[in-house]
This record gives sequence, C-alpha cells and structure tokens, in this order.
Amino acid sequence: MGTVLPGEGPNADTEPSGSADIEALGSEVAGFEIIDLATTTDGQFAQVLDLLGSCLGQGYVDASGLERYRAAPDTRVDLLMISNNNVIAVWLAQQLSNDKLQGIRSRLSICGATIVLSSQRVGLLESVAVKPGYRGRRLGSILTEAVMGRLKQQGSDLILTLAWESGSKQSSSAMFKSLGFQPAATVDRYWYEDSKMLGYRCPQCGNPCECRATVFVRRP
Ligand SMILES: CC(C)(COP(=O)(O)OP(=O)(O)OC[C@H]1O[C@@H](n2cnc3c(N)ncnc32)[C@H](O)[C@@H]1OP(=O)(O)O)[C@@H](O)C(=O)NCCC(=O)NCCS
Ligand SMILES: [Zn+2]
Repeated sequence: MGTVLPGEGPNADTEPSGSADIEALGSEVAGFEIIDLATTTDGQFAQVLDLLGSCLGQGYVDASGLERYRAAPDTRVDLLMISNNNVIAVWLAQQLSNDKLQGIRSRLSICGATIVLSSQRVGLLESVAVKPGYRGRRLGSILTEAVMGRLKQQGSDLILTLAWESGSKQSSSAMFKSLGFQPAATVDRYWYEDSKMLGYRCPQCGNPCECRATVFVRRP
C-alpha cells in the first residue's frame, strides 16, 4: 500500500513549519487550563478514563494503561484540557523506541501496508478525544500542535499516527488532514484483533471492530 517520505514528497514545500507549544497558546485557549496527567486529581484521572472510554470504546485504554503514561514522563507525552475542573479533551502520545517503531512497522506490514519513514526519531500520537459538546472549536487541533511541540522538544523529528476512520465527520482523520498531515497508508480492520483480545466495543461498529485506520505522518 502506501509509502511515505515527508520532506521528500511532492508536498514537501507545503508542510507546516514548527509547532506551537502550550506557552504560546494562552489566548487561543482562554478559559481552559492545559495540564498533564501527572498533576491530575483522582477525580480528573477517572474523567480521563471515562472520556476515552465513551469516545474510543470502554476498555480500549484501561486504568493501568493510563497509569503507565503517568509513570513514564520521559518517553510519554500526555496533555489534558480542563474547564471548570472538568476534563474536556485528552491526548496520549509517546516517543517511540526503535523496538516499538519496529513493532508498528511489522504490524502494519502484516496488514499489507509498508511504510518507509525518513526518521528513526518518531513520535507516535496514540489516542485523542474531545468531549462531544466541545468539538469543532479547534480544541483538538490546538492540543495536537501542543503535543507535537512536546514530542519535538523530546527529540522527535517525525510524527506518526493511525487515525480511526470512524465514518463520522468528527473523525481524527479530518483533523489530521486539516493540520497538514500526509496520508501514508490505509489499513482495513486495524483494531480487529485488539478489540477481540481486549473485549472493548468500538463506539461505531461494536466488537470486533471492523474500522479502517489511516496512517498519517508530519514533521512536528
Ligand atoms: C477527532 C476529534 C479529537 C477532533 O477534535 P475537535 O476539537 O472537534 O477538532 P477541531 O475543532 O480542531 O477540528 C479539526 C478538523 O476536524 C473537522 N471537523 C471537526 N468538527 C467537524 C464537524 N462538526 N463537521 C465537519 N468537520 C469537522 C474539520 O476538518 C476541522 O478542521 P477545520 O477546523 O480546519 O475545518 C474529536 O472530534 C473527537 O474526539 N472525536 C471522537 C474520538 C476520535 O475519533 N478520536 C480519534 C481516535 S484515533
Ligand atoms: Zn469500529
């Protein structure tokens, strides 16, 4: 299927340059506080699990998985948006080790998608959710740029993500395209085995999940 070389393809000149970091976002996110998981209260931590569960499927990210983000700030990046003490958006990401990058490549190639990445320092955007009443206000986009800024600070020079093609207008695929990500490959039933193994129900199609994923890449 697809092959990607950001910075080497025909759209290289149109890539967005640089990412805003949280400090530069003050006026854009007026009224919202941006924090990370390490500083959440127990109540906020539970809200993050609820938000991810309701948007991505209950159990797709469980409490122990979320704890691992909290416990490994060197390789993991997470950001939350808070309004009146309520969690309204969450992003989970991580800097990929060579082993993890190889694991993703193998998994994609099993699914028939070969990707060639022009970097070994890859940041993976894993899970994003914005609370339904707050969508379409660019909060997801702002938080995505902020997370990429963090990954860049930690050394990533390429950002990779697998967007869930949920069939909804409010899909991350639309957001990544509007942020200048380049599609690299599509993978049918990407979460099929995971959903069977973890037993979570996809909010769109149930269990097992038959949804497609699009692999996107961008320079941070
Ligand atoms: C995907 C998601 C995080 C986007 O968050 P958001 O804050 O609504 O996103 P933004 O407002 O920044 O919008 C980004 C783009 O999405 C599209 N979009 C968002 N809301 C839309 C709507 N109601 N109708 C049409 N397009 C819409 C637009 O292309 C928009 O870009 P634009 O502003 O340049 O037109 C959010 O919709 C969500 O949580 N969805 C459910 C969970 C999910 O699919 N997660 C991804 C798992 S990989
Ligand atoms: Zn599905």
